[in-house]
Amino acid sequence: MNILLTGGTGYIGSHAAVELLNLSHDLTLLDNLSNSKPTVVEKIAEITKKSPEFIKIDLLDEPSLNDFFQNHSFDLVIHFAGKKAVGESVEKPLEYYENNVKGSINLFKAMSRHGIKKLIFSSSATVYGMRDVEKFTEDMETGMNISSPYGRSKFMIEEILKDLAASDPDWQISLLRYFNPIGNHPSGLIGEDPNGTPNNLMPIIMKVAKGEIPELKIYGTDYDTEDGTCLRDYIHVVDLAKGHVAAMNYLSPGVSIYNLGSGVGTSVKEMVEAFEFASGKPLPHSFAPRRPGDIARIIADPAKANRELNWRTTLSVKDAMKDTLTFLKKSPASRENNYIP
Ligand code: NAD
Ligand code: UFG
Repeated sequence: MNILLTGGTGYIGSHAAVELLNLSHDLTLLDNLSNSKPTVVEKIAEITKKSPEFIKIDLLDEPSLNDFFQNHSFDLVIHFAGKKAVGESVEKPLEYYENNVKGSINLFKAMSRHGIKKLIFSSSATVYGMRDVEKFTEDMETGMNISSPYGRSKFMIEEILKDLAASDPDWQISLLRYFNPIGNHPSGLIGEDPNGTPNNLMPIIMKVAKGEIPELKIYGTDYDTEDGTCLRDYIHVVDLAKGHVAAMNYLSPGVSIYNLGSGVGTSVKEMVEAFEFASGKPLPHSFAPRRPGDIARIIADPAKANRELNWRTTLSVKDAMKDTLTFLKKSPASRENNYIP
């Protein structure tokens, strides 16, 4: 198949690119490089021995996007491109709505105009909003109590896509709700390397290991969980990437929605222990009050994806930590730091 990946040089897009190239699909990666580097394309080629096409375009630049579609033809689009920093979205809501919602509308319009009506969209568990449930299932109501403009932008795009599919039966759309992606390709050649200061647990652990942040602050030890710290459903990014291949193989008319998660919760303390086990060294950390907006548990019920997509996670948090160490060892900045063996 001839596939377009928007946000294709980003963290999840680059891992999906590897899986798809390994299956001999033809790929074009489109990105504005606002949160990724063009060197990712060479790394993808090094891993797969195949070269995807790369094009630098901003989804907000409608004329360039239309020119691009005029000269290319695709069977399917996987739409990863978007801004994703929750905290930043609270400070700059208009930038987030413009980039994520308007960028997506521009893409869907261009696709529609050129008769490309197969789409996989990167959504998030955040659309379920803040609520205390053991596990999230796809039939639960979405859109209530979402904690950030980022999260609401994902909800809005999901709604737009439902309306689009209702307006035209030719659309085949899969909404994939990711839980917490971690880890990287076992080669250590690609991984999460965000520009700016991260807020998420794993990128912070990596910065502490590199000596760029003095310690990890564990937010909240008095949650109603076994060890008092929050539980999240961490999913290895290679498993997540394979979820896109599965979704692609089972695309059907209308909108289908799937949770991509493991179904297992891991606590913040367990994450620290798993990293320490992989590295063989203690990770500097301290305990701090709860982070505003956090909830005790966000865990997927992945039964629908298991059943309908014939997909399930196969890699563990332990695998993700091992692969993260490999990635860190290959990062030039890490070589000077004696933390990383
Ligand atoms: P990422 O930032 O690494 O990748 C996103 C890519 O999109 C970046 O390379 C960025 O440069 C590009 N981009 C942003 N705005 C663009 C625009 N207007 N035009 C063209 N390119 C643009 O993020 P990621 O972790 O790979 O996430 C991919 C998708 O998955 C995002 O939509 C994100 O919201 C979603 N998601 C991520 C997580 C997570 O924890 N990583 C969880 C749930 C959902
Ligand atoms: N945490 C710390 N210290 C830190 C950073 C995080 O203790 O320095 C804790 C958080 O309090 C939370 C856990 O680590 O308990 C995971 O936090 P992340 O920020 O990595 O992830 P969240 O689950 O809070 O949020 C992410 C996305 C959301 C999305 C959600 C889906 O940022 O948009 O995953 O599960 F909704």
